[in-house]
Amino acid sequence: MIELKHKEIFQAAPQLKVIAPGRINILGEHLDYNGGVVLPAAVNRSLEFTFSTSPSAEATLFIYASSLNEHATIDPKSKLTRGWMAYFANALVALKEESLSIDQDISICFDGNIPLGAGMSSSAALCCGLIQGLSDLHHWSLSPARIAKLAQRTEHLTGANCGLMDQYAVMFSKEGHILKLDNSDLATSLIPWNLSDTSFLLINSKVDHQLAGTDSDYNQRRAVCEKGLALLQQKFPEVQHLATATSIHLTYLMDHMIPDDIIKISYVLEETARVSEAEVAIQQGDAKALGHLMYQTHKGLSEKYQVAIPETDFLANLGPLIDGVYGARMVGAGFGGCVLFLVEKAKAKRIIEQVHRKYLDLFGIDSTGFEVEISDGVSSRLM
Ligand code: GLA
Repeated sequence: MIELKHKEIFQAAPQLKVIAPGRINILGEHLDYNGGVVLPAAVNRSLEFTFSTSPSAEATLFIYASSLNEHATIDPKSKLTRGWMAYFANALVALKEESLSIDQDISICFDGNIPLGAGMSSSAALCCGLIQGLSDLHHWSLSPARIAKLAQRTEHLTGANCGLMDQYAVMFSKEGHILKLDNSDLATSLIPWNLSDTSFLLINSKVDHQLAGTDSDYNQRRAVCEKGLALLQQKFPEVQHLATATSIHLTYLMDHMIPDDIIKISYVLEETARVSEAEVAIQQGDAKALGHLMYQTHKGLSEKYQVAIPETDFLANLGPLIDGVYGARMVGAGFGGCVLFLVEKAKAKRIIEQVHRKYLDLFGIDSTGFEVEISDGVSSRLM
């Protein structure tokens, strides 16, 4: 138990425990930074943090990453750009930018079962959980939206130019519901998830992805979209977000961008249309229709947005060949990570085994597969 670990490592009883979940995304991939609607949900895989404080003018974080068995000491002057420690250092920078400074020594133990670099937004869970904990310890009373934005800023400082979907999923999710986040105005609502005979499976391709880095594939995709929007706005200033552009706008862009970029932007427009259909399918409890949309999204991510890899293509393409699978698609940023399956609940275990065997045969990689439940967002408890 993390509480015992905390006592053992820091010789102090934890005063606060925070649990921050990972997420899946049903549909709306790469739409958050394009002002589109996304449909994520937190799941029952999470990071847990325990915190204890002691008065000190130095204001230092003493951190123990339990599953990695690694220690770090970070003060507000630490400059780190790599590894999990960079998120802690950059969270302090992000808070400082908003005149929020820690005023005591804080010992933090954290542990969890979200696979890292697997498209389940372990970094958003890390940043949101940490900032939630620091907010509670200092009585800053930060709103969930503010924590989400501070966590996003932390990721930007660490080199991934991400949107806000992951942080909102961590902060606003509710058990038994899909979160609808409209990134044009950050309005949120909850759609009840009524497909009780179905399960979501995550199959980890075990190919790690890396979002951070000035030239990362993720940042490049975002740059293409931003360029497209900027070009569009020169002629059509009323278009505020790429996700709300139309085919007329796309035709205009054809004279101003290379064909490969146009293909990527066409994915954004098509995915936006799919999200509206997915919302209806969820409301009607239509697993077949939703699954079909998931397959189409994967195809778009693979062939147009070009963020899938042979491993995730293979996994998603297994879906139609296996009895009991409604739909499958890569989830999160791409370039590796997990493939999300929507399946008949009763067949879930067998499907995991079948996928595992076929993937092992072809790629020689021992994938991990697990069923996930749609869960609550972040929680925090004084101890
Ligand atoms: C990562 C980013 C998100 C989002 C997804 C793709 O998870 O952190 O902001 O862009 O990729 O949908």
